Amino acid sequence: MKFRVAVILFVACGATAALAGPIQDRQQLMKNVQAATKDGVALSRGTVPFDAAKAKSVLDVYIDASAKLPTLFPKGSGAESGTKTAADPKIWVDTAGFQAASAKFGTDAKAGLAATDTASFNKAFTEIFKDCNSCHGAYRVKQQ
Ligand code: HEC
Repeated sequence: MKFRVAVILFVACGATAALAGPIQDRQQLMKNVQAATKDGVALSRGTVPFDAAKAKSVLDVYIDASAKLPTLFPKGSGAESGTKTAADPKIWVDTAGFQAASAKFGTDAKAGLAATDTASFNKAFTEIFKDCNSCHGAYRVKQQ
């Protein structure tokens, strides 16, 4: 009997964590993306000399994020979950569009790996930056 109660409690806690989990995970993921972007901006402006290893470490954060993003917005993890989130309900209406925006972010980041100097990195980075803005414009609510 005791065992059964424990199992039920465990399942109940798991359900709550399942909704708060992906919201925190995606916000943390975006914070990491933001941190990498600071280095990316410096490289693209030439504030720091071009360095392929540094560029790769920025782009790897984006590539990893683009692969994870589509998994971090399960149904029910919008504002209705009760957890503070800037995810726009449009994500669950136009899921294909959101997934395409995530994929494009990864494709453009992979293209950036071919950069060999500040100019070519700047060109790739400009495309990536457009991906941040267009996804936020369509799928993130303006508040925060
Ligand atoms: C495919 C869509 C998409 C792309 C691409 C994207 N983001 Fe986001 N971003 C979101 C969504 C959706 C949220 C809101 C998440 C939430 O609150 O649940 C967000 C939130 C954020 C946040 C706030 C995180 C917090 O503290 O809660 C920052 C900062 C951010 N993004 C930066 C960036 C940067 C910089 C890029 C590009 C290098 C980028 N994002 C690319 C969709 C995207």
